Amino acid sequence: MSSPANEGLMEKIVALCKRRGFVYPSAEIYGGLAGFFDYGPLGLALKNNIKNLWWKQFVSNRDDMFGVDAALITKKEVLEASGHVGGFSDPMVVCSKCKHRFRADQITRSDLGDGKKVGPFCPDCGGALGDLSQFNMMFQTHVGAVQEENSVAYLRPETAQGIFTNFKNVVDSFHPRLPFGIGQIGKAFRNEIAPRDFLFRLRELEQMEVEYFVKPKEWEGVFEMWRTEMLRFLESIGIDRTKTHELEVSEGDRAHYSKRTFDFDFDFPFGRKELYGLAYRTDFDLRNHQTMSGAKLEFVDEETNESFIPHVVEPSLGVERSVLAVLLSAYTEDEMNGEVRSFLKLKPAVAPIKAAVFPLLKNKPELVAKAREVYQLLKKDPAFGGAVMFDDNGNIGKRYRRQDEIGTPFCITVDFDSLEKGDVTVRARDTGKQDRMAIQELTIFLRNQPAS
Ligand code: GAP
Repeated sequence: MSSPANEGLMEKIVALCKRRGFVYPSAEIYGGLAGFFDYGPLGLALKNNIKNLWWKQFVSNRDDMFGVDAALITKKEVLEASGHVGGFSDPMVVCSKCKHRFRADQITRSDLGDGKKVGPFCPDCGGALGDLSQFNMMFQTHVGAVQEENSVAYLRPETAQGIFTNFKNVVDSFHPRLPFGIGQIGKAFRNEIAPRDFLFRLRELEQMEVEYFVKPKEWEGVFEMWRTEMLRFLESIGIDRTKTHELEVSEGDRAHYSKRTFDFDFDFPFGRKELYGLAYRTDFDLRNHQTMSGAKLEFVDEETNESFIPHVVEPSLGVERSVLAVLLSAYTEDEMNGEVRSFLKLKPAVAPIKAAVFPLLKNKPELVAKAREVYQLLKKDPAFGGAVMFDDNGNIGKRYRRQDEIGTPFCITVDFDSLEKGDVTVRARDTGKQDRMAIQELTIFLRNQPAS
């Protein structure tokens, strides 16, 4: 939704990400590459925290889940069977004057067929728009020294297919009972016609996906279960629930493989858009892979001896859209000590840095040495995973602002009293409130903070 509160918000987030080492445009020194971004140290930490929380909740904390990590380059036959070679395309129109390309559904109605005019004028230059055509979004490559029809392969457009092609392997190795699922986190590639809105529409992205295999009649209960889990997840990473909306996708707008889809939309500053998707993929993928490969992908029920192709429910979550929604949800401006302050109100569980340690003065070696001691204490504590920062640059006020801006929940200052009494000042990011605490109590206090 575009509202006064959203005014300039994207620009602020993009600038903060660049300035503070979260996200950089890829190959920036060469002018960048549209649809590609690189993570800096803090963005990498934020992204890894989100991925780890997903992995725990969706895979490792459950008894019915297995993890895989499949190859990114995918054999052509796999993507022919899945329908991607034939149908993973977006409707495209090209301006006859400036030659800019547009996704037709972003500038007009989406229900027009090939060859029909989508509206007369180019949004960029006002020139006449050409006819609709379909543009396949997969990145093609060749495997081996000879580039010929037989050597064509693709960078995977979704992580899902690497799960379906390993279904039989996991069943043969682990003999799971239905229902069970296979989860994967990894890169996917889409040659989007119009990448846009920072991390929202990328050409290289990361997905966190589960393919959950069920008896055909049991998909509805499982769909509901994953719906609840997805809501629980987005709350756990700090995505503003008041800005998320569930939307049942109509038949005409569903992907070719889906019989039911729920989108979880988020109110981005550039509009209400898809954050995550939940789809009932039926037996579409396994059945097609069985037909195309000749491998038997049926599941034999040990109790009834019945054999059938399981049906699939798929919660699919984009990593970058999670990162963006978390940043947008966390960005806060308030007034502190008579000054406007901007800070990231990140949940400690996703915050890139859990605590920062400062000596009150940089030029007092005894303070610096004590602060280093406190820093090492926290740095080595497995509870914080090394996500602790030492800062002695500038005055204390500036250090607080810097940590607030990157979402560090607590700052710890070592001063002259610390040398005598063995205590420190602990300052909370959200309130600016400062408390005195014994150094021995510090780790217990920080460990006991609610992570989310
Ligand atoms: N396996 C199902 C699948 O890939 P999708 O709706 O095309 O479904 C799933 O993608 C999720 O991946 C989306 O909800 C979104 O979070 C993320 N995603 C898709 N395309 C993206 C893009 N171009 N840039 C960033 N994230 C994207």
